[in-house]
Amino acid sequence: MVFKKKRRWHTVPGQPLTEMDKQVMYWENKGKLVPTRNLIKTPEQIDGIRKSGVINTGVLDEVAARIHAGMSTAEIDKICYDYCTEHGAVPACLNYEGYPKSVCTSINEVVCHGIPKETDILQEGDIVNVDFTTILDGYYADASRMFIIGKTTPEKEQLVRVAKECLEIGAEAARPYGFVGDIGHAIQKHAEKYHYGVVRDLCGHGVGIEFHEEPEVLHFGHKGSGMLLVPGMVFTIEPMINMGTWRVFIDADDPYGWEVITEDEKPSAQWEHTFLMTEHGVEILSA
Ligand code: MF3
Ligand code: CO
Ligand code: CO
Repeated sequence: MVFKKKRRWHTVPGQPLTEMDKQVMYWENKGKLVPTRNLIKTPEQIDGIRKSGVINTGVLDEVAARIHAGMSTAEIDKICYDYCTEHGAVPACLNYEGYPKSVCTSINEVVCHGIPKETDILQEGDIVNVDFTTILDGYYADASRMFIIGKTTPEKEQLVRVAKECLEIGAEAARPYGFVGDIGHAIQKHAEKYHYGVVRDLCGHGVGIEFHEEPEVLHFGHKGSGMLLVPGMVFTIEPMINMGTWRVFIDADDPYGWEVITEDEKPSAQWEHTFLMTEHGVEILSA
């Protein structure tokens, strides 16, 4: 019996091998995880995701202009919903696997997937992540930012800054024909300089045609691990960086079972962009 491993990468029959084919087949033969061809976006798909990204970035710019102490996270939800729909897009989170709102608003020790509420009022000194995903003409773009409400402590300020640096350093480590693990390695190294915990239970992801596609983008780990990065792939990097332990759990008080909080209830910060891998490195499609 001959055991044949199923190939992930299929060449186009009758066509000469491209540089991309040669690179991917080389790594696949070495036993590395390579993308399937459908993860390489066409120019038309990239154009669609790019346009979705413009609106997604616009949503977060609108939040940046209007967020303030004393407002509820439900008000942020309305700002996002209105901006998104007025620009012809659909909020991807709304009704996604039972999620009840259009945006995630995660305050202080809430790591991610915080559900907006009338009763959650932003206080001076809070740090809050606002995470929004747009669908425009079927194309997804996903991004999040941290907002500091008024003046906060130097410790929380540093956490927010270092989490952003983690995203930037991770993006810089993402190279064409490098590996997804290069990203996580760079992020973990930077976060651990500050003795911060990198959340392990949630990761970045391919995005564009669906909300969550392959590959998984871990924010920790080893260089050269994970999937080969090929020009045309679109994915998020979205490190969640904790002031204390990396351990998290689902808040038992959340009836929807979405909200993730730190085990030690110390604060957490996250930034997320949608990126396109090009021949030269990543390009930001949504921020
Ligand atoms: N936007 C989140 C991400 O970065 C996913 C939120 S799913 C939701 O992948 F249902 F909680 F909104
Ligand atoms: Co997101
Ligand atoms: Co995401």
